[in-house]
Amino acid sequence: MRLPMLPLVLFIALGAGACSRHPTAMPASPVPANAKAAAMHSASLLDEHSYAEPDTVRTTDLALDLAVDFDHRQLTGTATHTLQWLDLKATQLVLDSRDLTIDKIEGAVGKDQWTPLQYVVAAKDAILGSKLTIQAPQRNAKVRITYRTSPDASGLQWLEPAMTQGKQQPFMFSQSEAIHARSWVPLQDTPGVRFTYSAHVTAPKDAMVLMSADNDPTAARDGDYTFVMPQPIPSYLLAIAAGDLVFEPISPRSGVWAEPAMVHKAATEFADTDKMMQVAENLYGPYRWGRYDILVLPPSFPFGGMENPRLTFATPTVIVGDKSLVSLVAHELAHSWSGNLVTNASWKNIWLNEGFTTYVQARITEALYGDELAEMERQIDQEELAAEIKSGDIAPADQVLALPPLTGRDPDDALSDIAYTKGAWFLRFLEQRFGRATFDPFLRGWFDSHAFKSATTDDFVAYLHRQLLDKAPNTVSAAELDAWLHQPGIPAFAEHARSRNFGIVDAARIAWSAEAKLPPLSITAAWSTQEWTHFLDGMPQTLTQEQMASLDAAYHFTGSPNGELAQRWYPLAVRSGYHAADSAMAEFLQGVGRRKLIMPTYEALVKTPEGLQFAQDVFDKARAGYHPITTASVAAAIAKAQPSAKGATP
Ligand code: BES
Ligand code: ZN
Repeated sequence: MRLPMLPLVLFIALGAGACSRHPTAMPASPVPANAKAAAMHSASLLDEHSYAEPDTVRTTDLALDLAVDFDHRQLTGTATHTLQWLDLKATQLVLDSRDLTIDKIEGAVGKDQWTPLQYVVAAKDAILGSKLTIQAPQRNAKVRITYRTSPDASGLQWLEPAMTQGKQQPFMFSQSEAIHARSWVPLQDTPGVRFTYSAHVTAPKDAMVLMSADNDPTAARDGDYTFVMPQPIPSYLLAIAAGDLVFEPISPRSGVWAEPAMVHKAATEFADTDKMMQVAENLYGPYRWGRYDILVLPPSFPFGGMENPRLTFATPTVIVGDKSLVSLVAHELAHSWSGNLVTNASWKNIWLNEGFTTYVQARITEALYGDELAEMERQIDQEELAAEIKSGDIAPADQVLALPPLTGRDPDDALSDIAYTKGAWFLRFLEQRFGRATFDPFLRGWFDSHAFKSATTDDFVAYLHRQLLDKAPNTVSAAELDAWLHQPGIPAFAEHARSRNFGIVDAARIAWSAEAKLPPLSITAAWSTQEWTHFLDGMPQTLTQEQMASLDAAYHFTGSPNGELAQRWYPLAVRSGYHAADSAMAEFLQGVGRRKLIMPTYEALVKTPEGLQFAQDVFDKARAGYHPITTASVAAAIAKAQPSAKGATP
């Protein structure tokens, strides 16, 4: 989870060429004088993380013309919005922006004719960025913005050649979810607005450019690229990457893009991608996006995966050689239905994206790899959530699916395993109560009836009542529904996942801790990442030096290339004072930028003064290679642990 960012210097930039600017408050939109119900309705639809006024005017298409400038770590060019004016008395277009330099804004007046428009970039809000208000009294059908991004754009990472696998060429990529698209395109940065897009992008000749659009596997690498995304998408699904990228097909409609040294390994690991598509299609209807490709990013990618349409972005840390972590692909692919097709209307509704996706992911995993793997993954997730709740890391108010407005908070702060694991658990509960014969068509119907639309929790609850609960009134009680949606924690009546394989792992762990008898190879040889994960998850808070050393000698956890094991082993090493792991741990923290994998170790380190110093030293070295999102998380964990200046004698 992210902590609030440090206060940022506020600044005001005024548009060039304007004669009557309004640096002071703009006229507020009229408040409807009608009843509370209308206010409540619009409150649940309102996106508190966007300045845009989509009830007035909406972007229906975005045309980008951008140059990728590695030397200056900048994108420069134009964004042209095609607008649908809903309020025919409106005089302004309000967009979101963050750290953009706007050179000029023009409105279309007739064919190929553009006239300058006045605009104001407001002071920067630390969470929301800068409101960009454009005066458009003629309600131009198109508005074109000429702009540059900041080298510190929160949604972009620029990598030196040394930080890539090939070490020859620089690399750049975007991560727009949740509210970072505004740092590289001025737009209505809310998942409540969808638009089609096209792009013309230039880059150095040796850089391949890809977007969340119709990437052509056979495109010539000539520094000049065009893209079209014909399906309307929300802004957080805009994505771009550029670097030394090559393609290897998996099937006629899917493949992998990666650096040359990684592409074959990745295509082998993700060989089941088309089969996953077929499973999802059988359950939830046709895949509606054309191709499905996976882009493997350098290890600094801050997430496991990101469901950019037609082109999932993925961490290389899941390529472990035995396909044991390919549920990540199932997850990002599942978003092609839950999230990309039916989209959370604002970030307080994120369980509609992530909880539904985690549920669909498990269905894909089960169909392809069997119920036992799906059950092991469910159990790992459920036990992790229980531990997080117990540790007090998630405030009770954030333990509900139906979150209140997140006003004044970074959307990432409210995002926790509640959305993923409790969300998926709720759908599994419904599945078990109603049976798959009823529940599967119900869920497919949700995707079909809300396709290419945004949805709120209220929309889902209404649909649930209409399509399921009202038809079988005694199946789920109002109190049960309330417990899932509005009460903190996991409902007492929820059925817990219980993997058979994990029973064997538990027995092995118990035998080891009671009699120091290591589980024999005949048992562990067949263990997958999930079993080893569970083996480590069940360890006590600390182990003795002898215990750590004997585990390490037998199973080589220190230096493991498997991030799921490393992210569990190193915190145990820190808590146990097992310094033999220090140098491999430092290497891991410096080489990987995926937040989920490295934050547990940083959090364990900062708990002691000695560990805090270690964390600080590693962070100083790693920082240049981290994504801004990861930097913010690590900096916050270290800052929180710093001895307070208060009370110090001068
Ligand atoms: N859409 C998310 C990533 C995300 C969520 C980015 C919210 C920013 C804000 C993506 O689909 C995701 O859930 N990734 C997981 C993968 C995992 C659950 C298989 C991750 O990165 O760990
Ligand atoms: Zn997801």
